[in-house]
Amino acid sequence: MVKLEVQGGELRAARGDLVVVPLPEGDVRAAVRRLDRRLATALGRRLGPGTFGGRTDELLVHHAERAIVLLGVGREPVTDDSWRRAGARARQEAERQRVRRVAVYLGKNGGNREVVAAFAEGFLLAGYRFGRYLSDSDGRRRVERLVLVGDVAAGTTALRRVLSGVDALAREVFRARDLVNEPASVKTPSFLAEQASAAAKEIPGLEVEVWDRKRIVREELAGLLAVARGSREEPRFIVLRYSGVAAGPRVALVGKAITFDSGGLSLKPAKSMETMKYDMAGGAAVIGAVAAAARLGVPVRLTGYVPATENLPGGNAQKPGDVIRYRNGRTVEVLNTDAEGRLILADALALARLDKPDVIIDVATLTGACRVALGPLFAGLMGNDQRLVDTLLAAGRAAGERLWHLPLVPEYRDDLKSPIADLKNVGGDSAGAIIAGLFLEEFVGGARWAHLDIAGPAFTEKDLPHAPRGATGFGVRLLVRCLERLADEGAGR
Ligand code: BES
Ligand code: MN
Ligand code: ZN
Repeated sequence: MVKLEVQGGELRAARGDLVVVPLPEGDVRAAVRRLDRRLATALGRRLGPGTFGGRTDELLVHHAERAIVLLGVGREPVTDDSWRRAGARARQEAERQRVRRVAVYLGKNGGNREVVAAFAEGFLLAGYRFGRYLSDSDGRRRVERLVLVGDVAAGTTALRRVLSGVDALAREVFRARDLVNEPASVKTPSFLAEQASAAAKEIPGLEVEVWDRKRIVREELAGLLAVARGSREEPRFIVLRYSGVAAGPRVALVGKAITFDSGGLSLKPAKSMETMKYDMAGGAAVIGAVAAAARLGVPVRLTGYVPATENLPGGNAQKPGDVIRYRNGRTVEVLNTDAEGRLILADALALARLDKPDVIIDVATLTGACRVALGPLFAGLMGNDQRLVDTLLAAGRAAGERLWHLPLVPEYRDDLKSPIADLKNVGGDSAGAIIAGLFLEEFVGGARWAHLDIAGPAFTEKDLPHAPRGATGFGVRLLVRCLERLADEGAGR
């Protein structure tokens, strides 16, 4: 992980092989002149009309004794999101130039915690790669250090603390990305459980309990057992615990972890299966978020529930038309074995509820329909409590992990009626994301609950500013910010 430092002082004193100077849209020539006359003169016409103007993502590279990069951050007021994006852009350029030490000159913003945190976060996140299976990825020089330079007199200690928080969060985003990017043949349910246990060894205050098949049978997790029938790999149920403070709000996080979704006997077409190793991204986000909360000491009492299994069409697989009897007495007719996520989440939600948490939030790559509706940049958000929904929307905005609220239309519940059981696991051919949400709602009782469908943003087919193609770690940063807000609100009712 890149080391983060703060340094007080002027642009000229910045310690870096490459110095990034973020500039907002406007009179950039005047702005550069104010920072450094000689630089303004050296750049001369390159700052004239019709050239670099400070627009978002715009770059001007100047090679003197060392490289100076002017980086556009768009119109003022510059948002945290723009600062994060600028950090990501700066990292891409620094990697391209193969420098070790990067400085960014933030001027007056150097003492602004939000700006410093957002820029550093973008810088760290954009440096991720999944190189485990690339034979020629070694030996290439990588960025090692980011120095944040500016008017920091007000408090370098406070800034250092902010930066260590950013570092902790980025580590957990990377843990989630690594887990999701790992091929499914390696990343079995037991592998996932071992990885969660390894996190607990590494992070003080984080506890992990792993339930094997025997325990899962004893706990009557009927949905998990039904889905796991088609696979030779044993299922696991992972429970993570972290308690920041005796009186903090009690929060349950539930994450879907289908380590590979073939669809089961309701088999998916080959094309749709290509990326189905990422069907455990909800579970990875929960593991990452609980771990990050522990690292950061967020004042909540947290339990993470991660049901993990493969969904395969083995000889013993559940069949369309089978009925599952849940431990709370509910019965479900499984008409489509590819709607398996809701089957395992039902167990976990019902179990979470027994503990009487103040809120329950589940995260799942639950429906293709949600990805079709919102695309790769928004997750669907549903819930039975407007205040929790609002808290999540605000957390999503702060994190730059965007959510869109979808309605749990009560009339659509009729679509889940079965002639032979309490519910069926699929509805008709419309409102797929909402129908899935309504199904989950049946298992949360009266608890305050929200559901995040991350089928779109959990995995990106294109390079993004802050994440290369593949797993994004979506949800980790958003959930941590949500936990901080719940703690501030005092969460109860
Ligand atoms: N894991 C999929 C949802 C999914 C699809 C995630 C594409 C990411 C990208 C889920 O288990 C699934 O197969 N859902 C079905 C539900 C349907 C059978 C009601 C779907 O979306 O087609
Ligand atoms: Mn499926
Ligand atoms: Zn699935």
